[in-house]
Amino acid sequence: MSLRSSPPGPLHVAIIPDGNGRWAIQRGRPRRAGHQAGAEAIRRVVDAAADLGVGHLTLFAFSSDNWERPPGEVDALFALVRQFMLDQASHWVARGTRLRVIGRRDRLPAILRAVIASVEEATAEGRGLQLRIALDYSAREEILRTATRFYTTLEISQEAFGEMLARVSHAGENFPDVDLLIRTGGEQRLSDFLLWECAYAEMIFSKKMWPEFGAADLEAAIREYHTRPRRFGRLPEEKAG
Ligand code: IPE
Ligand code: IPE
Ligand code: MG
Repeated sequence: MSLRSSPPGPLHVAIIPDGNGRWAIQRGRPRRAGHQAGAEAIRRVVDAAADLGVGHLTLFAFSSDNWERPPGEVDALFALVRQFMLDQASHWVARGTRLRVIGRRDRLPAILRAVIASVEEATAEGRGLQLRIALDYSAREEILRTATRFYTTLEISQEAFGEMLARVSHAGENFPDVDLLIRTGGEQRLSDFLLWECAYAEMIFSKKMWPEFGAADLEAAIREYHTRPRRFGRLPEEKAG
């Protein structure tokens, strides 16, 4: 009975851009090259989402479990994210794209935190695509932190819980449920991404590695989404009553 899901209207699309490493290894290149190509794919897909009238786009860039990767890869990823945000900032301002970074901030390198703050501020007036990039993000941890804020409260509505959830991860107000979740790279799992917000998300799993994903793939996924009947536990329209 999630009242925060309100199609039709601009969609909330969430993406798990997986397969950078495999894409690079298949080409005899270091994993880092895959992440570089992955950043380029993110640039394309963010613009495509804005062109297609997507309302919210949330991209999983670094999970809290990704800290388990070798420090060299983690450092390279953060450097890439920082450069990517700096490169895109003025373009996003011009397009009305607003950036928010969700997840924990306290463990990120200070220099990256500073770039995040400046790009969030620069794009704050954006009324076009509401872009969220998840960094050091874990849905379980976010839910747990939200729950501890309410631990003395006996009754709490889903709406109030959802609003607090958005606050603990810096998502801002009006963080709607996910309508469409796309994961590339062939894996079919959520990997601790947006567990609360994906309660009724339609899921599309692509075998393409993330660096191969482009505007046409996003458009095709949205087209497929529109063919799927969403019922939210109710009967189909024609059988109701
Ligand atoms: C996804 O690609 C990007 C991040 C997790 C940062 P991977 O790095 O997981 O690529 P694969 O799954 O190893 O191919
Ligand atoms: C999920 O991908 C996280 C991101 C894309 C940032 P992973 O590659 O880390 O997920 P698992 O380990 O295959 O579940
Ligand atoms: Mg992966």
